[in-house]
Amino acid sequence: MALALGESSFFLLVVILTANSMLPLSYASLPAVFIFGDSTVDVGTNNYLNGTATATDRFYGIDYPYSMPTGRFSNGLNTADFIVSLLGDGRESPPPYLALANNMAGFKSKILRGVNFASGGSGILEDTGNKTWKAVVSLRNQIDQFAIVQENILEVLGKAKGEHLVANSLYIISSGSNDFVEFTQNNPFVSSTTIMTDVQSNFTKHLKTLYSLGARKFAIVSVPAIGCIPAVRAIVGGSCLDDLNNSSRVFYSSMTKILDNFSSTSEGFLYSIGNTYLMTMSIIDNARANGFREAINACCGTGDFNGGDKCTPTSNLCKNRDEYLFWDWFHPTQRASSLAALTLVFAEGKEFVTPINFSQLASKEV
Ligand SMILES: *[C@@H]1O[C@H](CO)[C@@H](O)[C@H](O)[C@H]1NC(C)=O
Ligand SMILES: *[C@@H]1O[C@H](CO)[C@@H](O)[C@H](O)[C@H]1NC(C)=O
Ligand SMILES: *[C@@H]1O[C@H](CO)[C@@H](O)[C@H](O)[C@H]1NC(C)=O
Ligand SMILES: *[C@@H]1O[C@H](CO)[C@@H](O)[C@H](O)[C@H]1NC(C)=O
Ligand SMILES: *[C@@H]1O[C@H](CO)[C@@H](O)[C@H](O)[C@H]1NC(C)=O
Ligand SMILES: *[C@@H]1O[C@H](CO)[C@@H](O)[C@H](O)[C@H]1NC(C)=O
Ligand SMILES: *[C@@H]1O[C@H](CO)[C@@H](O)[C@H](O)[C@H]1NC(C)=O
Repeated sequence: MALALGESSFFLLVVILTANSMLPLSYASLPAVFIFGDSTVDVGTNNYLNGTATATDRFYGIDYPYSMPTGRFSNGLNTADFIVSLLGDGRESPPPYLALANNMAGFKSKILRGVNFASGGSGILEDTGNKTWKAVVSLRNQIDQFAIVQENILEVLGKAKGEHLVANSLYIISSGSNDFVEFTQNNPFVSSTTIMTDVQSNFTKHLKTLYSLGARKFAIVSVPAIGCIPAVRAIVGGSCLDDLNNSSRVFYSSMTKILDNFSSTSEGFLYSIGNTYLMTMSIIDNARANGFREAINACCGTGDFNGGDKCTPTSNLCKNRDEYLFWDWFHPTQRASSLAALTLVFAEGKEFVTPINFSQLASKEV
């Protein structure tokens, strides 16, 4: 590992943050949060599709109120929920677009408080997830849905107020893992960096589209250490897959360049990017110091590392879910997501989130 991290710096950071986060926050300049991406931030979009990337059975949601599966790929809440609640913008993520669109009654008032477009299994590339999971909402389609929302906001509030809301809202994007993982599954002997240029150019294109629709405040969650998830360890036979880790790191550094270039060439463009690769690796390398007992096996699943399949009612289920980094073959536990969100929102220094943290981004007035 080439990480120059202090033994327990992530842990210390998080302890300090946990104390700070007791303060209720509220940002006058943050009217709404719009969320795009994959299963790391999906709060039930896929419940409205006929695909197979779903989290609607036990034991998903076992730690959610009433142990209810909601479609979140977690034992409870996910990173989007925690970011939104830490920013003081509600108890959890705003609802899925498809839930609002299926119930047109409240649509025009509810969208003013934010919408979650994220779809498990999707990626930055148009086709990612489509065949593997039968039906996902691609990032491009998520942005098309946002265009409908944006149009309605301008119609409801009028042009000036509507544009102000759109510009001052926060745009969280957490996508890219599935592009690389799916490529590796389909091409086991080819480096996943083969698709790097396509992923970069499509990411840039999506940012441009959102910017042209009036979005200004971009909160980017990078690709975590996908080479070390239980599903990959189960296939490789134990160790992390360096090639996938490499793709996470290379894509993170190219995203920082793309975003930096955007902010110097596009007026009003603001961003913050979190290095979730580094967050995952610091927990894996120092699990106990970070309060985890298990950073390799999934809590719920079957087969090696509980990484053979998704969590189902007949899977192995661990007892102490808060001690696990991974909830299932692909996803972090609620506790790991909460630590990631605390870091993204409040971290000091530029190691984990740069050039500013999400709370500072949220408080900027455009
Ligand atoms: C899903 O399948 C059901 C039953 O086959 C069908 O009625 C419904 O329209 C489908 N939904 C979508 C979003 O394709
Ligand atoms: C992706 O899925 C949608 C909906 O099922 C379908 O209409 C579309 O043709 C698919 N695209 C590709 C490239 O498979
Ligand atoms: C990581 O990816 C970069 C470019 O995408 C490539 O040049 C480099 O050789 C890769 N490194 C390893 C260790 O795979
Ligand atoms: C996006 O990715 C596709 C391959 O999936 C590629 O053909 C295309 O050139 C990429 N770039 C843009 C800007 O769409
Ligand atoms: C991926 O993770 C493994 C296990 O910690 C580590 O040894 C390796 O250096 C990582 N690879 C890359 C390219 O970061
Ligand atoms: C920076 O952005 C400008 C304007 O969009 C673009 O023309 C240029 O190619 C970008 N440069 C890099 C290095 O990406
Ligand atoms: C991160 O957020 C906190 C709380 O808003 C702020 O006090 C702090 O200065 C920020 N840190 C950095 C490095 O930007």
